[in-house]
Amino acid sequence: GAPITADISALPEGQRLIVEWRGQPIWIVRRSQAILKALPTLDGNLRDPKSENPDQQPNYVLKGNPEYRSIKPEVSVLVGLCTHLGCSPEMKAEIRPEPFDPEWKGGYFCPCHKSRFDMSGRVYQGVPAPTNLVVPPHHYENDNTIVIG
Ligand code: FES
Repeated sequence: GAPITADISALPEGQRLIVEWRGQPIWIVRRSQAILKALPTLDGNLRDPKSENPDQQPNYVLKGNPEYRSIKPEVSVLVGLCTHLGCSPEMKAEIRPEPFDPEWKGGYFCPCHKSRFDMSGRVYQGVPAPTNLVVPPHHYENDNTIVIG
């Protein structure tokens, strides 16, 4: 499929824009400073905190802070499909799914078999999903325009 562009100029902090690329939902989320600060504190609870599985993201999103898995720290771009069996996880930036690890700082929750991911799409330990959510290939055409594909 051809690349698509997404305009993020009107995307507020804490919100998610969903676009479609190659028949898949692509999530673009503007994360708060509080979320960015929380991400490294979760590493001990995650299966692949530094995203060492090269199939799950392009290498260039790990160049800054690998815990962010993004080109710009605040803007996360993910394929919105669970890496277990492909359901679409829900974004729960504030709500803590119970019962669960009290260190939950928000993230994505897959209702099909209860896999959980943080706000970088990194998978928690002890859930069915084997790997982090996929970061699709993308780049910035300008400050507010992301090209996916
Ligand atoms: Fe998401 Fe099974 S499809 S946990």
